[in-house]
Amino acid sequence: MLEAAHAEAADPNTETMDHARNVVAAMSAFALADTKSRPVSMSEAVASWAKGLDNPELLRVVPSGFYDFDDALGGGFRPGTLNLLAGRPGHGKTTMALNIIANAAERGFKSLFFSLEMPRQEVVTKMIASRARVDISNITIKRAKDDVLAKVAAAAGAFRELPITIDDAASLGVVDIAARAAQTQTAGGLDVVIVDYLQLITMERAKGDTKDEAVGRVTKALKAIAKDLRIPVVALSQLNREGDTDDPQLSHLRDSGNLEQDADTVTFIRRKDKQADIMVKKNRMGRTAAFSLRFVAQHHRMDSVSYEA
Ligand SMILES: Nc1ncnc2c1ncn2[C@@H]1O[C@H](COP(=O)(O)OP(=O)(O)OP(=O)(O)O)[C@@H](O)[C@H]1O
Ligand SMILES: [Mg+2]
Repeated sequence: MLEAAHAEAADPNTETMDHARNVVAAMSAFALADTKSRPVSMSEAVASWAKGLDNPELLRVVPSGFYDFDDALGGGFRPGTLNLLAGRPGHGKTTMALNIIANAAERGFKSLFFSLEMPRQEVVTKMIASRARVDISNITIKRAKDDVLAKVAAAAGAFRELPITIDDAASLGVVDIAARAAQTQTAGGLDVVIVDYLQLITMERAKGDTKDEAVGRVTKALKAIAKDLRIPVVALSQLNREGDTDDPQLSHLRDSGNLEQDADTVTFIRRKDKQADIMVKKNRMGRTAAFSLRFVAQHHRMDSVSYEA
């Protein structure tokens, strides 16, 4: 009885949860179902391709706000894609993600940020620091200078208006993520889901399952969420020690194989003091690329480096 009540409480919207479960359950058949595989003539293929050019979904490509990145991605993150942002701990994954969310929000794109890593208080602190360009780590209202406080207040005010939703539940599985994303989309619209970070997603491990298979189910589910909700999913991912190099490879993704296969884009991030080196090493819809961003770590901020005149 108590258990049932508890389950109810954890399941605020059973219908959405059921839907999410179905999405996740359908995933193994996903590749086949998705392409409705049958031979098509070139004329039919070209006709549907031409239709695709009018596709309003292309308008929902979510910009990262970093022009080198958007250039490589063909405008930004595309609906239906799984995008990985991978790096060693402390190299700027979260910073970049929060800056992308703010950049996209300023352009009117609605995001849902799953912060499995940090409580939302910390997320908000970092976002405000980034926008205000202040080091917020050791300021208190009492000690801060007035001009700093004014900047912080202005940034806080600006964020209140932005279409960003933060979910900081400490342990979530993909089914929860699918359900919460679907709910958010139904409630007020949703253009992009960001997960910080993939290895923190609670994995159900069936008997005899390898870690690889469990991770594979997670990435397939994330991809299915992207397809089902017709939005991009951006997942941050930790690199293993072998990835501790200036030239990280797809094989360095922890629990690789699955990650690499299921992602439409894979981008590595590597901190070099005041710079973040960004390497787009897999891109199904475009080219690979390498560029740097200015990284002001104490402000939790990244900026495009402007072209030399
Ligand atoms: N107040 C500060 N002053 C200077 N550097 C800071 C400050 N706060 C954070 N940093 C640095 O900024 C970087 C933050 O990186 P970020 O958290 O974005 O990396 P990450 O890839 O998400 O790491 P993790 O895997 O640990 O989550 C770290 O290198 C950290 O040392
Ligand atoms: Mg992080």
